[in-house]
Amino acid sequence: MRKRNKLVLVAALLAATVSVFADDLIFRGTISGEMLDFKGLNETETDAVKKFKQTGVNPYNGNAEVIKKGESLFSTACSGCHGHLAEGKLGPALSDDYWTYPKNATDKGLFETIFGGAEGMMGPQRGRLTQDEMLQIMSWVRSIYQGDPDKAKWLNN
Ligand code: HEC
Repeated sequence: MRKRNKLVLVAALLAATVSVFADDLIFRGTISGEMLDFKGLNETETDAVKKFKQTGVNPYNGNAEVIKKGESLFSTACSGCHGHLAEGKLGPALSDDYWTYPKNATDKGLFETIFGGAEGMMGPQRGRLTQDEMLQIMSWVRSIYQGDPDKAKWLNN
């Protein structure tokens, strides 16, 4: 192969690899199993959201400043049903290691449940909160976790 052709080939391979890494994961509704619809949202995706969609890892975990904001968002949007410390009320506790939907032990699963909703009163937060706000809330929920550390799947995904 001529040197130039080789170079073209290498460049094409590199481009292919980069585009594979840049692909978003597929997010599915917790109940419907259908792909979540991110189109038509009235928000600009933040870098954290973009990163999260590619990795399934919440970049805000452990970020004290964001966790504080997440706590305040939780108390307006979620605590009425889940309790101020997410200890459970109308909706289940979110601070222990029992999950109705086991995938909520991963951040990808938790996001899918918050964005797309679950049964009954757990309505989709799509359009009510921005995706970035959902990540902020998730970082607080993870920060108050009291369950078995071995079951904290979001730490190792
Ligand atoms: C109007 C009441 C209500 C509000 C507001 C609400 N939830 Fe829920 N949530 C529920 C109920 C009821 C369930 C149980 C639904 C089910 O089992 O399918 C639930 C389930 C969940 C689950 C699944 C828990 C598991 O064990 O798998 C998560 C996660 C969750 N809610 C997070 C949130 C977050 C975060 C917010 C705020 C953005 C929120 N919810 C707001 C009522 C509510």
